Amino acid sequence: MNQPDYKNWIPKWMICSGAVGTAVSVILLLIFIITLRGTARAVLSIVFALASVLMCVYLVWSVIAYNAFSYTGRRRLSKDIIESTAGFVKLESGQTALDIGCGSGALAIAVAKRNPSAKVIGCDRWGKEYAEFSMKLCADNAKAEKAENVVFQKGDATALPFADEQFDAVVSNYVYHNIPTKDRQAVLLETLRTLKKGGTFAIHDIFSRQKYGDMDSFIRKLYDMGYEKVELINTTNGRFMSAKESKLLFLRESKLLVGKK
Ligand SMILES: C[S@@+](CC[C@H](N)C(=O)[O-])C[C@H]1O[C@@H](n2cnc3c(N)ncnc32)[C@H](O)[C@@H]1O
Repeated sequence: MNQPDYKNWIPKWMICSGAVGTAVSVILLLIFIITLRGTARAVLSIVFALASVLMCVYLVWSVIAYNAFSYTGRRRLSKDIIESTAGFVKLESGQTALDIGCGSGALAIAVAKRNPSAKVIGCDRWGKEYAEFSMKLCADNAKAEKAENVVFQKGDATALPFADEQFDAVVSNYVYHNIPTKDRQAVLLETLRTLKKGGTFAIHDIFSRQKYGDMDSFIRKLYDMGYEKVELINTTNGRFMSAKESKLLFLRESKLLVGKK
């Protein structure tokens, strides 16, 4: 493979299911209008007209989101977010970084390329929900990018297979909001467990109160534990994306949690 293929956060099956759903709803609507009479015709026509509109909206949104996130499209939002997050990691020779939920390897590889004398590990669960992502895809992408200082291994963010204080930096992008847990602050603490004293972190995600609870008190707790320069930076004010774009793509409340242990 000569070119990396980071795939898309919107899987192709979403577009396919939108197209099939729209076509089936419209065909059934036409069949009911042509063949039925009376109340059945009225009820089924209304139901399938509504279904057609909803499926069509879903299809159009999937195509818009797919194009926005595409690495080869015009907007390249995923690439912008990855590169900007990677920009927060500065490693010296021999230091190591961990990317949690590395997907297709984009952020781990971006950090590795920016810090060629450091070593990066990308880990992911590689479950069913992002079936296009795999450890092999990550390795192929690293090879295509000529990034020899990055390796990949399987690992779950909720119980990382790494020692306490192993890494000089930890990064992650849009992973924890996907994890079905009531306590995402616990997942953050599990991440920070692997960080050395003096190490830095840059974690980008949808930090809504609904998903994370009270992040102000979490940040105060980190300061009490001795962490420094902890900040939750809004990335939907033009920094990574516009507010309008974040609403359209369901990325409202995207923020970058940064700091030093
Ligand atoms: C939206 S993708 C983001 C991938 C990558 N971070 C990026 O920026 O391109 C979410 C990723 O989180 C991973 N993931 C979800 N739950 C996980 C868990 N409990 N542990 C590790 N990875 C997980 C998924 O497998 C998927 O690769």
